Amino acid sequence: MTQTPPAKVTVGDKVIDLPILKGSLGPDVIDIRKLYAQSDAFTYDPGFTSTASCESKITYIDGDQGVLLHRGYPIDQLASQSNFLETCYLLLHGELPSAAEYEKFESTITRHTMLHAQFDRFFDGFRRDAHPMAIMTGAVGALSAFYHDSLDIHDAQQREISAHRLIAKMPTIAARAFKYSVGQPFVHPKNNLSYAENFLRMCFAVPAEDYVVDPALVRAMDRIFILHADHEQNASTSTVRLAGSSGANPFACIAAGIACLWGPSHGGANEEALNMLREIGTPEKIPEFIAGVKDRRYKLMGFGHRVYKNYDPRAKVMQTSAYEVLAATGRENDPLFQVAKELEAVALKDEFFIERKLFPNVDFYSGITLSAMGFPTTMFTVLFALARTVGWIAQWKEMIEDPGQKIGRPRQLYTGATQRDFVPLSQRG
Ligand code: ACO
Repeated sequence: MTQTPPAKVTVGDKVIDLPILKGSLGPDVIDIRKLYAQSDAFTYDPGFTSTASCESKITYIDGDQGVLLHRGYPIDQLASQSNFLETCYLLLHGELPSAAEYEKFESTITRHTMLHAQFDRFFDGFRRDAHPMAIMTGAVGALSAFYHDSLDIHDAQQREISAHRLIAKMPTIAARAFKYSVGQPFVHPKNNLSYAENFLRMCFAVPAEDYVVDPALVRAMDRIFILHADHEQNASTSTVRLAGSSGANPFACIAAGIACLWGPSHGGANEEALNMLREIGTPEKIPEFIAGVKDRRYKLMGFGHRVYKNYDPRAKVMQTSAYEVLAATGRENDPLFQVAKELEAVALKDEFFIERKLFPNVDFYSGITLSAMGFPTTMFTVLFALARTVGWIAQWKEMIEDPGQKIGRPRQLYTGATQRDFVPLSQRG
């Protein structure tokens, strides 16, 4: 970080110098850490629309240009040339692994995929119709009750083991949450399969018959995991960092992240996009649907983004995956896909969307893709949580390893009652 001449802010009769920090990419950042001490004033930014909450070296987004970089590498290059485990290594360690490092990492993750045998009994406590995200939130938090030997956050080796355990066990827990919700027996992990293939097998294999997964679906699953691996300081990642800032253990922090991701404004949009395509049903109904969007009766789900004011780079890759999965599952002529393509083409040419810089986001095609792969909509956010776990844990580790790390403690603009004296119940009117 380099510095330029300070910004100046006048509060009452005081002029305060605020250092301007420069990152390697992105806007300048005005350092307001000393502002309160020097001016007796807070800043106000609910929703953090203008506030950098931390320094990070993991992920960079340029929303105007539609750029997403992990440790400097563009997401489309990772999606086409890397795989999910290699991307995990990159996010955690900052560099792509050598062949030996990759082999060791893959072997470590593969050998941590099993759950403690007692852990399986934990699922029985949930109602049989429990939402898989409810199971995920509880089960991931419960990992801290099973793996006491990796809870010391001040021990680098224990932090590493927790990171490996979370990345490795997430698919097993997610598949069990799915199996439990559909009343099928759990399928154990198999070490000769890749990360994505193992997950698909744990979700879709049944004891009654052999299970062979189509390589096109394995590749699509792996790519979907890469696309969702990290997205800098979004709501769930900030939740993980805030929970971790108090010294909470990593399993508890990731459970907090999952809870945040569950909300429809964050992880639930692909389900909404799929429902929208189902409601439209046929390309002929698109003009009527678009008219409703312009009348502000509803939104075009899977379009627009708080940060991207250009094509979400993940959406392009997701569209390719949608083509591949629909071809592999014999659904090239799926009417929902026809509606999606036509809807995208119409919206991209329409002034309403052009003016507002509304482009497809990653969720526009992910619902169709996941549905064609056989996942019910209740699993969509679970898959997102599985993939995002590496981003959460990489960001958590970065925070814990930062020597300047402090507990997160925002202040407030208080607008409640001023001090007053307590009135006993008998004297209240
Ligand atoms: N359809 C129609 N109009 C839209 C849409 C949309 N999808 N998104 C934004 N707009 C309009 C708004 O009505 C507003 O119009 P106005 O200026 O005439 O009032 C303008 O575009 C700006 O929109 P904001 O709501 O200010 O944009 P913001 O950055 O706050 O919202 C959001 C971003 C929440 C993602 C929004 O675009 C949206 O709701 N999209 C649909 C849901 C969705 O697909 N979410 C997934 C995001 S990706 C992810 O989480 C992985």
